[in-house]
Amino acid sequence: MCGIIGFIGETIKGTVITDALKKLEYRGYDSWGTAFLSENKIEFFKQTGQINGIPEKIKKINSSLAIGHTRWATHGKISKVNAHPHVSVNNDLALVHNGIIENFSELKEKLSDKNFFSETDSEVILKLIEEKVNSGKSLFNAVSESVSLLKGSFALLVFSSKEKDKLIAVKHESPLLLGITEKGIFAASDQIPLSNFTNQFVFLEDGDIALIEKNNFKVFDFSLNEIKREIIKVESEITSSGKLKYSHFMLKEIMEQPFVLKSVLSQEEKNFNEISSLIKDSNLFFIGNGTSFNAGLFGKEFFSRIAGINPQVIEASEFPYVLDFIPENSVIFALSQSGETADVLDSVKKAKKKNLKIISMVNVFNSSLARLSDKVIYLNCGEEIGVASTKAFTSQVSLLYLLANSVKGNFNKALNELNELSFKMTEVIELNKNSVKELSHKIKSSKDVFFIGRSLNYGVALEASLKLKEISYIHAEAFQAGSLKHGPLALISDNVPVVVIAPKDKVFSDTLNNAIQAKARGAFIIGVSDENNNEFDFFIKLPKVNELLFPLISIIPLQLLAFHTAVFLERNPDKPKNLAKSVTVK
Ligand code: F6R
Repeated sequence: MCGIIGFIGETIKGTVITDALKKLEYRGYDSWGTAFLSENKIEFFKQTGQINGIPEKIKKINSSLAIGHTRWATHGKISKVNAHPHVSVNNDLALVHNGIIENFSELKEKLSDKNFFSETDSEVILKLIEEKVNSGKSLFNAVSESVSLLKGSFALLVFSSKEKDKLIAVKHESPLLLGITEKGIFAASDQIPLSNFTNQFVFLEDGDIALIEKNNFKVFDFSLNEIKREIIKVESEITSSGKLKYSHFMLKEIMEQPFVLKSVLSQEEKNFNEISSLIKDSNLFFIGNGTSFNAGLFGKEFFSRIAGINPQVIEASEFPYVLDFIPENSVIFALSQSGETADVLDSVKKAKKKNLKIISMVNVFNSSLARLSDKVIYLNCGEEIGVASTKAFTSQVSLLYLLANSVKGNFNKALNELNELSFKMTEVIELNKNSVKELSHKIKSSKDVFFIGRSLNYGVALEASLKLKEISYIHAEAFQAGSLKHGPLALISDNVPVVVIAPKDKVFSDTLNNAIQAKARGAFIIGVSDENNNEFDFFIKLPKVNELLFPLISIIPLQLLAFHTAVFLERNPDKPKNLAKSVTVK
């Protein structure tokens, strides 16, 4: 995790770096720091917590060479000394790192200078470079020799006050790209902080070292052979990266979901047909983490019900353990909003070694996952900044519905259905936005909240419980409604909220019976349905839709419920504790 940014070029204000860093905070926000070349010296700043209020010193700085980092702690506690940039003893080298150095203890042993300021693995990299620079090597040679010794994942930015016309960037298993502008060159973990400056990017590959100067750059491999990397112009579908009229990104992203359904209309039928042919007669495996894993559960349901294919869904961190038992004609379908999640990338790389075909569904253009894939479907839902995934989930689920239909030759029919559904989604928001806020007030002091559903709606229960727990920190758990009586009922007592996701379908009465069993033990029943029932203590009213599409509308009020509960509890839903948007560690 962690976000890094760097710039070399014409003189810019210090706040350009902190503004960009703020846009990277979704990758980690335990602490942050910057280092600037200022009057031939390195000036650095570090702080714990989020970027709130820029120090006066940074506001006054003008610099042509700078780096910054926002941290999600892995090695070493959250503290000012462990924050990046790490700066050398002589104050002439500064480095930021995203990733994990697996062999840092061995390397530490070999270093002659064992005086470390921090507890981080990253400072070892700085020390390695420092030793080599002190023995007379150029910064570029010192960096390239040092990175050859590292095991693990690293995106690095390094500069020296003694070679002030160079910024060095290294990428290995952590994301890094260059953003080309008329005034200079940026390096960053992703495109988001650079969206105001450029749409021209160089996507570095694993094992790349970039030597960046004011107006040009060269890329080398670790053996110092020069490699050609193209500048790619990204025609962005991205919506405004600001919060607009909303208090939080999460709320904005929830409200954008009707438009996300509309954006499905811009998907190319040809791409869907090609992917359909690839998966038609294959063994299909969906992999993903968190919300993307949950979206995969709907993929499984859609493919088996609509297309007659019975895929498996495997949590990406578990996938490598089953890879040996997977048949040769398998297709791996990786789901990831960011396209940078370490567990997904690791699984995909291992699957590729077995010559399995990789299809991915990704939001971030040209992300690592997209580049590793044989075929890609882009979510096109715009930047998702809130740490809790909302609109990306809606996009994933609707595109999986479209794909399953496309396998059956019903691409256009499904497009029309999704277009229609976008109007229903607007209705759902209007119907529930105030009442759900009221409901969040009721549940905010609960110790536990349970979500139950059967069949497809168990997936909604899982996703809704993930949303509530991750941003409100209330214990929330999902159960298949029928499994309540096999143990979990012991957890029910007076006023424990049980959210029952139950459209009036074939399994409605069974689900309702399970709700009644919970109610008999004191539970407060929150019904999420297209029909009210006397057993519901609170009713979230939804319109009638095709039962396969019900999850796409029922998740909306439950996302809102999680959001308002977090806000009532004064927890920032955009930046929940201990989490990060892009989980680039295994
Ligand atoms: C939950 C959430 C996470 C992500 C997970 C995978 O709201 O955001 O569970 O879904 O970390 O991230 P991606 O989809 O980027 O691979």
